Amino acid sequence: MSRVELTGIAKSFDDLQALDDVSVDVEDGSFFVLLGPSGAGKTTTLRVIAGLEAPDVGDVRFDGHSAGGATPAERDVAMVFQSYALYPKQTVAQNIASPLRARNVGPDEMQKRVEEVATLLRIDHLLQRHPGQLSGGEQQRVALGRALVREPRAFLMDEPLTNLDVKLRVEMRAELTRLHRHVGRTFIYVSNDQAEAMAMADRIAVLHEGRIQQVGTPEEVYDHPVNRFVATFVGSSRMNLLDCEVQDEVLIGTDGWRLPAPPAALGHPGRLQLGVRPEDLSVAGEGSGGHALRGVVYAVEPLGDRVLLDVEIGDTVIRVKAAPTVVHEVGQALDVCVDLTRAHLFDHDTGLALSRHAEPARQTL
Ligand SMILES: Nc1ncnc2c1ncn2[C@@H]1O[C@H](COP(=O)(O)OP(=O)(O)OP(=O)(O)O)[C@@H](O)[C@H]1O
Ligand SMILES: [Mg+2]
Repeated sequence: MSRVELTGIAKSFDDLQALDDVSVDVEDGSFFVLLGPSGAGKTTTLRVIAGLEAPDVGDVRFDGHSAGGATPAERDVAMVFQSYALYPKQTVAQNIASPLRARNVGPDEMQKRVEEVATLLRIDHLLQRHPGQLSGGEQQRVALGRALVREPRAFLMDEPLTNLDVKLRVEMRAELTRLHRHVGRTFIYVSNDQAEAMAMADRIAVLHEGRIQQVGTPEEVYDHPVNRFVATFVGSSRMNLLDCEVQDEVLIGTDGWRLPAPPAALGHPGRLQLGVRPEDLSVAGEGSGGHALRGVVYAVEPLGDRVLLDVEIGDTVIRVKAAPTVVHEVGQALDVCVDLTRAHLFDHDTGLALSRHAEPARQTL
């Protein structure tokens, strides 16, 4: 059982601040994903949790107790790294058993535990092979088995699927969520792949430049991103951003378009950006209705079930996920409909999202 809490963690390497006031509360038994681009501070956060790195400021708590200066072994967490680091001269069974040998577990108990874990991971037929005789995915499972055999209080996984090919990655995602349900322990999983995070997480913390941007369920970070970074990082195709400002209840685009201003924009002075995901745009005449932007097709990319259209709206190129039924050609003029109920507005300069609904009055005590 383990709830993991980080409070106000800061960590610098020389003059580089890798983590700045990082606070997260990982519920016991949840699948928590730390999501962010390269250099965001994800591995550093995991290493701080594991006790491999001491924070400059802040506290790590397991079930309410400060880990203080506890060693990695005392924290009883298992880390799975991107590189599997298996022992090449040992069999799969010996590799999986290695954490138990260090703990003086008897041979019968050891064999039983190794077989249980191998069955769970569906590698029980490989126990007598050596790592060099396994595929990447099989090696990955052995590394997972070595972590699982110990029954630690929490699993820390640092991009464990990055070395696998796309198909295997998608398969392993499902395996990992199944495994998580089976063992019922806390998983803290690092990823730079938003699709992976969306597919696996109970909750996601988006990390950028050492700071937590947002923590929420996959739906919350997708539907209600708090700023432009989260909005454009999460989502299978990047959110479109259109410069604009509001005048007399009308949103006026820098590229000349006009749309009725959503309530959040009213009374907001200065430059704004309208954010719309490609899936919330459609081509007029496809039965979508709504408010339209006039544009010219710039590029067409058929995806099978959808067609990705790049459309020039003035000086801005936006991406539209259109139905594949109508043929579109480069240079063709069309109207792009915007689902304003799904659109986002950002302050151009700060990048902060304008709330879609008026803020409820804050309660004072
Ligand atoms: N031991 C170290 N010494 C100096 N700088 C470090 C050290 N470890 C990490 N950093 C720096 O801290 C920042 C965060 O690194 P970290 O490894 O946590 O990023 P990450 O989010 O895991 O990135 P990636 O996705 O590339 O693995 C980076 O700028 C990195 O160069
Ligand atoms: Mg890393």
